[in-house]
Amino acid sequence: MRVAILGGAGKMGGWFSRFFVDNGDDVVISGRNLAKAKSLSEKIPISVAESSTNAIIGADLVVISVPIQSFESLLAEIAPHLSENQKVIDITSVKVVPVDLMHKFIKSALVLGTHPLFGPSSGAEGQNFILTPTNVRERAFAEDFSSFLSSKGFKVLITNPEEHDSAMAKVLALTHFVGIVTADVWEEININEVLPFSGTSFKRLHKFVENVIESDVELYSYLQMNLPGTADLEALFAKKAVEWSTLSKKKDTESFSLKMSGLKKTIIYKEE
Ligand SMILES: NC(=O)c1ccc[n+]([C@@H]2O[C@H](COP(=O)([O-])OP(=O)(O)OC[C@H]3O[C@@H](n4cnc5c(N)ncnc54)[C@H](OP(=O)(O)O)[C@@H]3O)[C@@H](O)[C@H]2O)c1
Repeated sequence: MRVAILGGAGKMGGWFSRFFVDNGDDVVISGRNLAKAKSLSEKIPISVAESSTNAIIGADLVVISVPIQSFESLLAEIAPHLSENQKVIDITSVKVVPVDLMHKFIKSALVLGTHPLFGPSSGAEGQNFILTPTNVRERAFAEDFSSFLSSKGFKVLITNPEEHDSAMAKVLALTHFVGIVTADVWEEININEVLPFSGTSFKRLHKFVENVIESDVELYSYLQMNLPGTADLEALFAKKAVEWSTLSKKKDTESFSLKMSGLKKTIIYKEE
């Protein structure tokens, strides 16, 4: 199969380039910075197209791996050159807007919204991969693609764009918020001074906060501002922080213990 990866020299584009090369596919990439794309082609057997419209010529599968901010202009550029027998997937971390845009621009090729729930440093094994078909043809494509992904070790979930984005507000936006607010508190109290006192829980939290803070600022800002219900989740987090802090302030050990014991029953997660 010939696979065109638009944004192929980026973090996730590079990951998918390696993935499809390892699968035995013929991979061609495009990007804005040709030197960066050529540098990747010196490391793995892929070819580099001069433009995205050139990359998609003869491709069976087109993978769009550009930041959400470049998504619409890229679609406008490639859509007139796609044909009926081609398939297009996007991997952006939100789904309602990109899937609507693919439907708006792409009238010929079959499209499918997808979201790989892992970063570029992960392997495939055990990682979650979400597919969001919106009609019968896309559903059939999703089922085929799901079988392929499952054979590579991914855990695939097929849902719709709205459910995906609503889940991502809880899974991504709230998680990032906790990390960012914690980092902000730590900056205020000079956390680095107490690093030599680190215990196990603190080390885990520190790693998590570091991961959040070193992530892509533009992507994280976009997710925070655009995933539905994020503001309500942030407000709930702030309200709960006040409730817990009130118990500490009042030295209400009994309520604190009762509430914490209640959480043990619902929250402790056992991996299958
Ligand atoms: N990073 C993650 O952990 C992660 C996880 C899941 C999904 N995603 C999604 O994956 C997508 C890519 O993210 P990323 O982290 O790989 O970003 P990235 O490292 O910034 O890579 C994006 C690539 O897109 C290229 N690009 C930008 N505008 C373009 C255009 N108009 N035409 C052609 N190429 C263009 C860039 O090329 P130049 O470098 O030449 O400018 C760059 O190589 C995003 O939609 C993101 O939401 C990311």
